[in-house]
Amino acid sequence: MNKSTKLIIVLFAVAVPAIIVAVALTTGKSDAPSVDHNKHSAQEHEQAVQASTSAQNNGDASKQADAVQVEIKDYAYAPETITIKAGTTVTWTNKDSVRHDVVAKNMSINTPKSDLLAKGESYSFTFNKPGTYEYYCSPHPYMKGKVVVTE
Ligand code: CO
Repeated sequence: MNKSTKLIIVLFAVAVPAIIVAVALTTGKSDAPSVDHNKHSAQEHEQAVQASTSAQNNGDASKQADAVQVEIKDYAYAPETITIKAGTTVTWTNKDSVRHDVVAKNMSINTPKSDLLAKGESYSFTFNKPGTYEYYCSPHPYMKGKVVVTE
């Protein structure tokens, strides 16, 4: 391998991730709510990267738009805050050995309320109404999460 071949490989190694990040940041901005943008931009960025990665894998970005995964791990929801469009289904999966749940802080017909989830169990809820939904784990009320639903 000669010097210029190596240089081209190095350039690609740097440029390709930079382009992916730039695209993801642009996507994140367009979906971001006007409030708390700085606080949540890192998480939105992460979601955007995951979405673009998945879209590359299955070649269909539209399928990724209405399903979002949240892990319950180490007594925390990850990501703790997600921003989604109305109509999106969120699925929480417990990865801990201890049981956790998902309970809306202000409960209504439009808010999630799961049973206690054992390790490996999941709960899904579709958010149809725009708004900010805070939730917690009833056995561990210090475990908190937030779903921001945009139009
Ligand atoms: Co818990």
